Amino acid sequence: MRLLSVRLIVSLIVGVALVSLCSSYYQVLMLKRGLRRDLQHRAEVLAESLAGNVERDLERDAQSTLQRTVEHFANREHLTGLAVYDVQGQPIAVTTSLEPLMTSAPAVVAQALKSDKGTDAFLRMGGAPVHIYALPLHRGEDLVGGLAIVHDASYIRDESLRIWRQTFLSALAHVFLIVLITLLIVRWSIAGPIARTAHWMKALRTGRAASARIKAPDMELFRPLAREVATFAESLNTARSAAQLEARLRDSSESMWTADRLAVHVHDRLADSRLFVVSNREPYTHTRRGKLIEVRVPPSGLVTALEPVLRACNGTWVAHGSGDADLETVGKGDRLSVPPDDPRYTLRRIWLTKEEEAGYYYGFANEGLWPLCHIAHTRPIFRASDWKHYQEVNRKFAEALLEEMENIVRPVVLVQDYHFALLPRMIKQSRPDARVAIFWHIPWPNPEAFRICPWQAELADGLLGADLIGFHIQSHCTNFLQTIDRIVESRIDWEHFSVQRLDHQTAVRPFPISVEFSDELAEPPRESAYEERATLLKTLGVEAACMGVGVDRLDYTKGILERFLAVESFLEKYPHYQRIFTFVQIGAPSRTHIKRYHDLQAEVEAEADRINWRFQTDKWKPIVLLNRQHSHEEIAPYYRAADLCLVTSLHDGMNLVAKEFVATRRDELGVLILSCFTGAARELQDALQVNPYDIDQTAEAIRAALEMPPEEKQQRMQRMRKLVREHNVYRWAGSLIGELCDVRLDVSAGSNERFRAGASVG
Ligand code: G6P
Repeated sequence: MRLLSVRLIVSLIVGVALVSLCSSYYQVLMLKRGLRRDLQHRAEVLAESLAGNVERDLERDAQSTLQRTVEHFANREHLTGLAVYDVQGQPIAVTTSLEPLMTSAPAVVAQALKSDKGTDAFLRMGGAPVHIYALPLHRGEDLVGGLAIVHDASYIRDESLRIWRQTFLSALAHVFLIVLITLLIVRWSIAGPIARTAHWMKALRTGRAASARIKAPDMELFRPLAREVATFAESLNTARSAAQLEARLRDSSESMWTADRLAVHVHDRLADSRLFVVSNREPYTHTRRGKLIEVRVPPSGLVTALEPVLRACNGTWVAHGSGDADLETVGKGDRLSVPPDDPRYTLRRIWLTKEEEAGYYYGFANEGLWPLCHIAHTRPIFRASDWKHYQEVNRKFAEALLEEMENIVRPVVLVQDYHFALLPRMIKQSRPDARVAIFWHIPWPNPEAFRICPWQAELADGLLGADLIGFHIQSHCTNFLQTIDRIVESRIDWEHFSVQRLDHQTAVRPFPISVEFSDELAEPPRESAYEERATLLKTLGVEAACMGVGVDRLDYTKGILERFLAVESFLEKYPHYQRIFTFVQIGAPSRTHIKRYHDLQAEVEAEADRINWRFQTDKWKPIVLLNRQHSHEEIAPYYRAADLCLVTSLHDGMNLVAKEFVATRRDELGVLILSCFTGAARELQDALQVNPYDIDQTAEAIRAALEMPPEEKQQRMQRMRKLVREHNVYRWAGSLIGELCDVRLDVSAGSNERFRAGASVG
């Protein structure tokens, strides 16, 4: 570094000095030219004005007057003197001071007489620089002699020297200042960041960065480079963590799933085929923000689960293009490669009209099937027009999917959720060689509840087109088979949990979905839960010692109102917790075009206001409602800081908030209060399980959580963390795809050929 600085300084000095020299040279040259021109002009004007007088004196032969005239001009500024010569160059009158030097006419006078016009020259006389201007003198038409005006030109040289001196001094000052400023810039903006980056990279290389929490430095000027280094560092970190994890796995022989293991697994199972995923939500949304287009990954468990799979096997994801800038960001065939900054797989966007979206998504899926499958006492609404749109949109997706699968032998298709109950049959009818699974992310109710749907048979038939149907838990599988048993002609094999309809067999299995458990890759928190809680509550403007958290889409199935009532009951029963305990509810507005959801938002706000009004003080309130979409990164600090997390769904397929809370608690503290009506309750037996309809029971659970001895908290959390770590989202995807690839296809080679040629949707 020191050597670099010396080189830099020398180069700067040489460079700045050279530039200053050239510019001074030019300046002096210009000045000299100006002064000379000025002197020439002055001499010319003087000669012209004197010529008349001198000519008259010559005519009168007035030698003495002539001598007086030449003497008179001897004292003017810079004027050395005058001389008058006859045509032979003999002096007639010469200023006394010039006499010894100008005994005969200088060459310039002879030249002027010869050419009969004013001539000048800069020359040296008596060792000093002078300027002589010679003008021919006439009597009438005849040439009678010449007048020489002699100026002292040494001031021109003096002036040039003065400028040279000045320039030298200012160049010196420039050099000094520029070198100083450059060195400071180099130190602050280059050497400093480089040194910090080197320190950071060394920490990365030696593996200290993750553990010692050495953050990536801000590289200022080198931001583009910094981005590359950061990505590189991240890959390095991921690779190291994966290697460590592998080693740990080998060591403990745990059957743990990672993104890498899933990638290898899917790759092996697919062999030469391809994976296709269909879902309503897309993994990347393009939205307009002023003039810019922003790419967003929706905070969805489904996206977290399926992204690594798609990335690993270069598959295709077909989804509804719902972003307002989605259309302008697709390429040919409405496809684009994603992730945008590291393309690994294809996203095919499907466009829906407003009417289609209203009928299929808001109407049939979310006002019909959603409340039908969730027993939360909101009456399902079934409109024939919604059903029509639901069918049409399923067909639209099927057509697009068949187009994507053309020329792909034995494609593997994962259909997601209740938006596409008809899709499996549509696909299988055209492509019996495809392996099709549908995963139903919400509960399946008992047959009594399901039979109110006017199109129950059509839905059942559509689903039974699949080779595999997945639910979160066994009881949803059982409910499904019982429903099928009642509504369609089929043979149920209860031993193997499958359905035989005509000549097609559908397996029905539980695959409990989960979350990523990224302890090994994540940075440990900077603060303790206690410190983080104080910071968060301060930003929310509340003073409290204990904090609970709830994170949900604002949905009537989530039991948010029941939760608030439980908080109220708890504060009523245990008033000493007033001013001590605050409950933070993060509620993301959802499906707000539906009246029930719109009304719910207002109800939730009103209920929080009512309870707050009842208890709140200047600095404290019982409920803080954060009514907007929060990213994973924004939610994590609340999970880490909370004494307890409340999940009080009235009915829920799985509920990933419960698992996310557990996965986030690296400190092994924090208590989970979990509704017994969630799928997660089957696995997370160490949560405090409650019936959310029983307000007192939930209030008691809040007290129990806050007063639970730390050892018990830790033991419960350790067990839950072990479970979520082992049953993470990669295992979910791995088992689902593994099971689907094991399905025996009931298709002949002949029909394969037929489908490769391309058939339309039935
Ligand atoms: C449920 C569904 C998911 C869906 C989520 C968000 O959990 O099972 O498939 O992603 O709700 O709902 P939205 O209607 O916003 O996609």
